[in-house]
Amino acid sequence: MTDDEMTLRSRMVATCRKMNETGINQGTAGNLSVRHGEGFLITPSSLPYDVMQPEDLVMMFWDGTYEGRRPSSEWRFHRDILKARADVNVVLHCHSHYATSVACHHRTIPAFHYMVGVMGGTTLRCARYATFGTQALSDAAIEALEDRMACLLGQHGQISLGTSLEGALWMAVEVETLARMYVQALALGEPPVLSDEEMGRVISQMKRMSYGLGPEEEGSNDVARPRAR
Ligand code: 13P
Repeated sequence: MTDDEMTLRSRMVATCRKMNETGINQGTAGNLSVRHGEGFLITPSSLPYDVMQPEDLVMMFWDGTYEGRRPSSEWRFHRDILKARADVNVVLHCHSHYATSVACHHRTIPAFHYMVGVMGGTTLRCARYATFGTQALSDAAIEALEDRMACLLGQHGQISLGTSLEGALWMAVEVETLARMYVQALALGEPPVLSDEEMGRVISQMKRMSYGLGPEEEGSNDVARPRAR
């Protein structure tokens, strides 16, 4: 194993532990994959993250073959998303409480808050229910993720995507936060929704500012600029 692969495996283990620390994951729910070499690295099935070691991660190839432990039962949607989406390097799945609560009602989250735009569109879609680990679930997820960096999975959980491990974790926490705000806003009745026109402005502003991608990313916020020394 190369040093680069060992570093990537260690970063994946650290991200999995952060999934638990942030409260978006628990027990043996959840799985994580990262594009690598001729395929991708993925978490093994049913191994709690607090005992998981870098060497437990499984190398999988596009044809569904693997080396090492038994891969996550959800390897199909990890493979299919990474294959279909050249803009994505990381797939994160978890059963975070509020996102899953909304998904249990098969609700798509509308643009009740402008941050819905950070997932790439005017809605955070909910994929139709299909049995875990099946091709039908993978097909439903691919559909719900069209032009999006996240989706809910009906009566199951959420999927968040990223170009990096940090980005995918950030997105998953955002999805959970938005779902929580949506559930709480619903306590006062169905909240109003921002217009498609306004969401168009929000999304182009987010793209221009590389919003949410971290302070090191390229982008401008129109008003503030670094002070000349
Ligand atoms: P694995 O432990 O097989 O990854 O399954 C967890 C899960 O969340 C299934 O949807």
